[in-house]
Amino acid sequence: MSNLGQYNAGIISTGRALPIGKITNADLETILETSDDWIQTRTGIRERRMVTGDETNSDLCVTASRIALERAGLKAEEVDLLIVSTVTPDLTLPSASCLVQSKLQARNAFVFDLVAGCSGFLYGLTVAEKFIQAGTVKNVLLVGVDVLTPIMDWQDRNTCVLFGDGAGAAVITRVEAERGLMASKLYADGDKAELLYTPAGGTKNPANYGTVEDRMHYVRMNGKEIFKFAVKVMTESTLEVLNICELSPTNLDYLIPHQANIRIIESASKKLGLLPEQVIVNIERFGNMSSASIPVALDEAVESGKIKEGHLLALVAFGAGLTWGAAVLRW
Ligand code: ACO
Repeated sequence: MSNLGQYNAGIISTGRALPIGKITNADLETILETSDDWIQTRTGIRERRMVTGDETNSDLCVTASRIALERAGLKAEEVDLLIVSTVTPDLTLPSASCLVQSKLQARNAFVFDLVAGCSGFLYGLTVAEKFIQAGTVKNVLLVGVDVLTPIMDWQDRNTCVLFGDGAGAAVITRVEAERGLMASKLYADGDKAELLYTPAGGTKNPANYGTVEDRMHYVRMNGKEIFKFAVKVMTESTLEVLNICELSPTNLDYLIPHQANIRIIESASKKLGLLPEQVIVNIERFGNMSSASIPVALDEAVESGKIKEGHLLALVAFGAGLTWGAAVLRW
C-alpha cells in the first residue's frame, strides 16, 4: 500500500492517558511465585499501570484525545472520523467509539471500533490514511487503547506480569507531500488465533458460572510461540515497508516497536542492524498496553523532543489474531 492518493495523510498531534494505579514487580512477588529479577531479565518490565475505581477504557480515550485535539488546535466537533482501536471496550455493545464520541461530544464524526490486537494502531493509521487520501474526510481522531488488567488471570504468572493499561491518541489529517505516512503493510493469520485469546465471554461461550469457575474469561497465551513469531515478522515487515520507500534501516531516525518484551525488541532491532539509540523503548514503565503501546511511545518521544520535524520513523507491531504490520512516516 504505497501512498499514491489525492491527499497526503499524516499525524499532526498526539496525546496519552495512563492510569495512576501501578503494579510493580514487588507487588507481583506478593501474589505470585515470581521475582523482580525474573520479570526484568525475561521481559524488561519493572511496573505497569492499572485502572482503579470507576476508571474505564473510554475515560482514558477521552483524556488522551482531548490532549491530542488541543495540540492540533481542533475542536471535537471538527473530527470527521473517530476510530477506537481496542480489544477491551467498556461494553460488548455498543461500540467503544460510540461511548467515546458521546463523552467527547464529537458530534460530527462517524465512528467505529477496530479490533486488530496490538497491531490496531497501525491498522487504524492505514485506514485513516485511506479515508483522507480519498478526500472522504479531513480530520481523523485515532485512539489506541487497552485496559487489560481486568482480563488478566492473576494466578497465571506466564501472562499477567506482561500487560498494563493505557491510551494513546493521534490526530491524522491532510499534510504537505513531503510529510506523513509514506507506506504501510498489514497482515493477519487467523490460523494462529489460539496463541492469544479469551475463551469465554463471546457468543460461542457466553459467560456463565462454569466459564467463570474455569477462568475462561481471562486471556490465555502461548508466549513461546508468539515470541519466535514476533521477532521474525517485526524484522520482515519493517524491511518490507522500508523497501517500498527505497530506504533501509540506516535511514531511520527512530523505530517505534510494539512494546511486548524487551528481548523481542532487541532481537528484531539487532536483525535490522539498528543501534539501541534508534529504538524507542518504554516497556520498563508500562509493560504491554496492546493498541496503546505505539501511540504512547510516540507521544512520549515527541513530547521529550526526541522526535523532531522531518525525522524518518518506522512503526512496527504484532498482536492477537495474529496480526502484524509496519509503517514508515516522515514526521
Ligand atoms: N516468574 C517466574 N517464572 C516464570 C514466570 C514468572 N512470571 N513466567 C514463567 N515462568 C517460568 C515458566 O513457568 C518456566 O518454568 P519451567 O521451566 O519450570 O516450566 C520458566 O519460567 C521459563 O519459561 P519460558 O516460557 O521459557 O520463559 P520465556 O523466556 O519464554 O519468557 C514470556 C516467557 C515472557 C511469556 C515470553 O515467552 C514472551 O514474552 N513471549 C511473548 C509474549 C507476547 O508478546 N505476548 C503478547 C503478544 S500480542 C500482544 O501484544 C497483545
